[in-house]
Amino acid sequence: MGEDIREAARAHLVPHFTRASAWQSPDLPVIVRGEGCYVYDDQGRRFLDGLSGLFCVNIGHGRSDIAAAAAKQMETLAYATNWSAAHPASIEAASLIAGLAPGDLDAVFFVSSGSEAVESAIKFARQYHRSQGQAGRTKVISREMSYHGTTMGALSVTGLPSYREPFEPLLPGVFHVPNTLGATVPPGGSARDLACVEAIEEVIEREGADTIAAIFAEPVQNGRGALVPPEGYWAELRAICDRHGILLVADEVINSFGRLGRWFGVEREGVVPDLLTFAKGSTSGYAPLGGLIARRPLVDRLFEAPDGMFSHGATWGGHPVSTTVAIANIHALADEHVLDNVQANAPRLAAGLNELVGRHRVLKEVRGTGYFYALELMADSETGRELTHDQSTSLLRSVLPAAMRKVNLLTRPDDRGATMLVLAPPLIADAAVVDELLGQVDAVLDEAGRFVNG
Ligand SMILES: Cc1ncc(COP(=O)(O)O)c(C=O)c1O
Repeated sequence: MGEDIREAARAHLVPHFTRASAWQSPDLPVIVRGEGCYVYDDQGRRFLDGLSGLFCVNIGHGRSDIAAAAAKQMETLAYATNWSAAHPASIEAASLIAGLAPGDLDAVFFVSSGSEAVESAIKFARQYHRSQGQAGRTKVISREMSYHGTTMGALSVTGLPSYREPFEPLLPGVFHVPNTLGATVPPGGSARDLACVEAIEEVIEREGADTIAAIFAEPVQNGRGALVPPEGYWAELRAICDRHGILLVADEVINSFGRLGRWFGVEREGVVPDLLTFAKGSTSGYAPLGGLIARRPLVDRLFEAPDGMFSHGATWGGHPVSTTVAIANIHALADEHVLDNVQANAPRLAAGLNELVGRHRVLKEVRGTGYFYALELMADSETGRELTHDQSTSLLRSVLPAAMRKVNLLTRPDDRGATMLVLAPPLIADAAVVDELLGQVDAVLDEAGRFVNG
């Protein structure tokens, strides 16, 4: 069965973002079952899920209560739309999410993925401005090395050159400004003076404020490795948008539903964006769901305009089973105090990772917060020697995957702007799981060090 199933995968299943050589490998993981923080492959091997699937299985694997809620919904009403009619599951899920979201982020538009959520935010921003007599506001500002999805609009907002290039030309009028990597506010200084903030003002000045629809940013940016913004950065984004009539969009596809120890990442910043996109953790991956949360007055103004509607939708948007799963998942996260677990154990994870920086010369820096970290590698932190291109390629493609496999860890080596290992365990990971993860990462770094420095 083991080889047959891989043979069938090679013959018929086209992988996402996976090199053909990895897909052909006899080591291709075939995951068949999950339980808590662990998944099992077709040979019965148990792996710690160090990336929560793909930053999504926040509540952990194998919840029969969520499965039961989905099954009951399928029996009661498998499908109904959110076009011209509504159904109880999407209404309840929207109310629940609106109740958790900060400020007047009260209006929820459901789709089925993060890319569609970002796509919806681009379209909402454009149509909103048009409805307010500002049809010229079509441009978007986002950040270098950011990932916002793969559909053509979301990909246009994405700031990763290698993801964009095969599909150019993309949407015109998208400008990528420096992200917050390395940005620190000096004592007594202001975030306003940061180069990454000034760059935004420069684009607005150059292009004209009345041509800019929106600024997109993740509270903690994943592309380029868990970039935690300096204090005051988000307040500056808010102030810039207010000054120029631009919509501020927080892309929280990864950050929301507890990843940073709060329901939404913007809570860390004390800022209410105009639009907020979510997906992954909203259902903990038990069903596909994404969405856009808008400030209520924006939707009201759009609805009061002559056309009186958001001209956008999809068959699966607000699907009864997905929204039922979101309700069950959010209740479980709340009732079981899962966000408190993240807040309680994140310092242990952070301290353990920072301790590894001192012990492994291949570890340059650890960034992140909550249950979301990136480990950036180099050749030798003592001498300041960076990895060669070939070393980096070998680490990413063979050394790190093999080392992770050896210790039964599933996570992702990341090449977006540096050589990195990303960690985002399920939010139910307790101190023992955190310690196990730290031990595994320690062993993986040992292997990486041996490969680079002998
Ligand atoms: C910040 C961000 N936005 C958008 C997306 C796209 O989400 P999806 O893969 O569900 O389309 C992702 C996916 O990882 C993401 O991290």
